[in-house]
Amino acid sequence: AAFTLAAGIPRAFAQKKIVLGFSQIGAESEWRTANTESIKSAAKDAGIELKFADAQQKQENQIKAIRSFIAQKVDVIAFSPVVETGFETVLREAKAAKIPVILTDRAVNVKDQSLWVSFMGSDFTEEGRKAGRWLVEKMKAEKGPVNIVELQGTVGSAPAIDRKKGFEEIIKADPKFKIVRSQTGDFTRAKGKEVMEAFLKAEGKKINVLYAHNDDMAIGAIQAIEEAGLKPAKDIVIISIDAVKGAFEAMMQGKLNVSVECSPLLGPQLMQAVKDVVAGKPVPKRIVTEEGIFPMEVAAKEFPKRKY
Ligand code: AHR
Repeated sequence: AAFTLAAGIPRAFAQKKIVLGFSQIGAESEWRTANTESIKSAAKDAGIELKFADAQQKQENQIKAIRSFIAQKVDVIAFSPVVETGFETVLREAKAAKIPVILTDRAVNVKDQSLWVSFMGSDFTEEGRKAGRWLVEKMKAEKGPVNIVELQGTVGSAPAIDRKKGFEEIIKADPKFKIVRSQTGDFTRAKGKEVMEAFLKAEGKKINVLYAHNDDMAIGAIQAIEEAGLKPAKDIVIISIDAVKGAFEAMMQGKLNVSVECSPLLGPQLMQAVKDVVAGKPVPKRIVTEEGIFPMEVAAKEFPKRKY
C-alpha cells in the first residue's frame, strides 16, 4: 500500500498536477469571453489545475489575485494585464517567491524584463497598421478631407496604445486623413454606443470613417449610427479589430466594412508554455499570434470557418 495511491496508481507513475493561477481582465467583450473559454478548456485538456480569477476590468483586483496566487504557492502565474503600468511591485513579489509569470494577450511596461518569462499574444501595433492600410486603399480616390472618429480601448491598455499608434503611423502619410474625435469606449458595446452618440452630436454628417479598437465598440456604435438615421458602412465607413463572430454577422448584414483579426485562442499555447516552464525547458520570450484581415466581401465565405 505504501507504493500505491488510493486509486491504485503506482506511486512512481503518479505526477503532481501543475497548478496555474490565471488572472483574467474581465468579460468586457466577445473576444474576452472566447479567450476565457479557450484558457479553461485548454487547462482541462492538459490536466492542469486552473485557479481562475476575474478582475472585472480593475487593476487592483488583478494585483490582489496575483498576491493570492503567490500565497497559495501555485506553480505558475499567468495574466492578461488590464493596463501596461503599475505591476512592477507585485511581479517582484512573484519573482522573490520563485513563481514564474507568463503574460498572455497584453504586455506590461516594466524595466526589469526578468520579471516575466514569456509574453504570448498579438502584435497590436501591426493590427493598427493593417486597419490604416485598408483605409488608405479604400479612400485612395477620395480628395478629402476624410474625417475619422476613433473609439479607443481601455485607457492605458497595450491594445489601445498600440492600435492607435499603428493606425496613425500609416494615415499620417496623407494629410487628407484627419482624426477629428478620439475617446475611449473601454472595449464595451454599451460605451461604444454612448461615445458614438456623442461623436454624432458633435460632428454630425461630417464623419466619414469610424475606427474602433474592437468589434464590440463598433457594434455598439452601429446602433448609434442607425438611431441617428444614418447607414453604417455606407454613410460612415467602419473599421474594427478582433474578427469575432458578431463582427462577421454585422459584415454579412452590410453594416461593418472590415475587421482586423486578433485571435483570443491562446489557451493551448499557454498550457504548453506552463508545462515547459515547470519542466525547466526554455520558452520563447515573445510568441506572436499570426493573424489576417477580413473585409465584408469575404465575410459570408469565411463565417463557417470561424472558431470564436
Ligand atoms: O487585449 C485584447 C483586446 O481586449 C481585444 O481586442 C478586446 O476585444 C478585448 O477586450
